[in-house]
Amino acid sequence: MTLLAVDDLATHFPTRRGLVRAVDGVSLTVERGETVGLVGESGCGKSTLAKAILGLVPVTAGSVRLEGREIAGLSDAAMRPVRRRLQMIFQDPYGSLNPRHLIRDILGVPLAVHGIGTGAADRRARVADVLAAVGLPADAANRYPHEFSGGQRQRIGIARALVLRPDLVICDEPVSALDLSIQAQILNLMVRLKEEFGLSYLFVSHDLSVVRYFTDRVVVMYLGRIVESAAVERLFQTPLHPYTRALIDAVPDPARRRSVTVLQGDLPSPVDAPKGCAFHPRCPLATDRCRTERPALRPLEGHTVACHHAEQALA
Ligand SMILES: Nc1ncnc2c1ncn2[C@@H]1O[C@H](COP(=O)(O)OP(=O)(O)O)[C@@H](O)[C@H]1O
Ligand code: SF4
Ligand SMILES: [Mg+2]
Repeated sequence: MTLLAVDDLATHFPTRRGLVRAVDGVSLTVERGETVGLVGESGCGKSTLAKAILGLVPVTAGSVRLEGREIAGLSDAAMRPVRRRLQMIFQDPYGSLNPRHLIRDILGVPLAVHGIGTGAADRRARVADVLAAVGLPADAANRYPHEFSGGQRQRIGIARALVLRPDLVICDEPVSALDLSIQAQILNLMVRLKEEFGLSYLFVSHDLSVVRYFTDRVVVMYLGRIVESAAVERLFQTPLHPYTRALIDAVPDPARRRSVTVLQGDLPSPVDAPKGCAFHPRCPLATDRCRTERPALRPLEGHTVACHHAEQALA
């Protein structure tokens, strides 16, 4: 069953430099129980898309449906019951946890706001349960965020997302700020919690190695648009879009201890995206057609891909 359906979503920011088309017509779905990865270079619009789904930035156009119900553009009051079902885990747990609040309040206040639990004792029990679920000691409730390590703080960020028992959790680079050894612990925890809490995830990351380990299906974004999506193994085995291929080839090779540089040049500005295929200035396969005609997303070999010459990857 389709839990989340995003259709032709756009978020444009008017700025002094011009209109920033951070998200420019994105469609994707998350089925119940599924983990969908959303990848692309820094600045391609992943966080804006995540926030637009949650109503944290304005939606310029398009639709966001949760189990069929439109939630884009809802008022704060109308959005409140939706927030209970749709939660977010942020990259920087410290920045998103109020340093003056005890953990028991960080976790307990959302319960009170949403009217969950039969009273204070019941809410304390729910806080204790969720702390145990994320592997923190019970006395963590009586401490402040700064008393915890980075990995523990992300456990608190996860607890805060889960205390409301949501259906869908949007995770925005949840391990990118953590040491490698801690990253694996947190990812393992998130896999376990998915089963325990019956969650679906939209998992945002610039790091393909994380996405490969963690997701069922991957959506690749470039300059505010989707360029390819496919089941995770299919995408890694046979990337059809030259950008996806470049991202995969850029994953650090442990044998050489450095990343292979395959992507030429920088991500262009979303204020002034290249004509035709936005990837053409960096694409080794670009032809005249690519410089003038924007490729539409189309189904091919179980993928969805926006490239005039995607068939070349199959040859
Ligand atoms: N509030 C904003 N106002 C203007 N531009 C923004 C705003 N938020 C993000 N952007 C721009 O939108 C683009 C996408 O940003 P973001 O969604 O943060 O990308 P990502 O998460 O993939 O790194 C970037 O060019 C960024 O500078
Ligand atoms: S449409 Fe052309 S420029 Fe764009 S990715 Fe495909 S081959 Fe490269
Ligand atoms: Mg981001």
